[in-house]
Amino acid sequence: MPDQEASNNLSSAFAVRGNEALETQYDDWANTYDQDNAAMGFRLPVLATAFFARWVPIGGKVLDAGCGTGLASENLHILGYRDLVGIDLSNAMLGRARETGVFSDLRRMVMGQRLDFASNAFSAAIVTGVFTEGHAPHSSFDELIRIVKPGGHIVLNVREDIYQNHGFREKMDDLEANGLWNLSEKSDPFRPFTISASHVIARIFVYQATS
Ligand SMILES: C[S@@+](CC[C@H](N)C(=O)[O-])C[C@H]1O[C@@H](n2cnc3c(N)ncnc32)[C@H](O)[C@@H]1O
Repeated sequence: MPDQEASNNLSSAFAVRGNEALETQYDDWANTYDQDNAAMGFRLPVLATAFFARWVPIGGKVLDAGCGTGLASENLHILGYRDLVGIDLSNAMLGRARETGVFSDLRRMVMGQRLDFASNAFSAAIVTGVFTEGHAPHSSFDELIRIVKPGGHIVLNVREDIYQNHGFREKMDDLEANGLWNLSEKSDPFRPFTISASHVIARIFVYQATS
């Protein structure tokens, strides 16, 4: 039986609107985020890092955008990746990420705004659980492409209903049509939570930045 409070916290994160409210929600959730997601069978960071390892050689600086408590980067570190840089909207989530000890740098930044990194600063990027209801906008892709070197991979997931109905599909296709990234691989739609939240369906995409 999944923990009811875990499901409530997830529902609240999907329901809030605006960066300020979202930041408060994640600040409040940070302490129990990992245990709540474990209770719900959250497998997205594990799966995304498996896709990442299929495409990205070890070595080079990696951005974990919307890193939260660091679930994806902890997996990347186990897989041998180093120089992991995390950004997130929530200072409390960044605080939990700091406790993992796997990041070389952690900074508060807001996706959808200009990111405070030089162009081509990263060899690759991973973004898990961030392109979902009420979270980061698809305009974030422009900045990810700017700061990942040409030839570098961007591994991300998008919640399926957001992909289909909130302009993500069009934006992602436009970026490809305009020669800014190429799709290397995409998963079939799957349930990111194995125990609860059965209505949530997501897909993982692997893009290669070309400019
Ligand atoms: C569902 S959690 C995913 C965290 C982590 N990537 C994982 O897979 O466990 C979403 C995270 O994205 C962050 N976030 C939401 N919108 C954001 C934005 N516009 N810019 C940066 N971080 C954002 C939240 O603070 C939260 O830590």
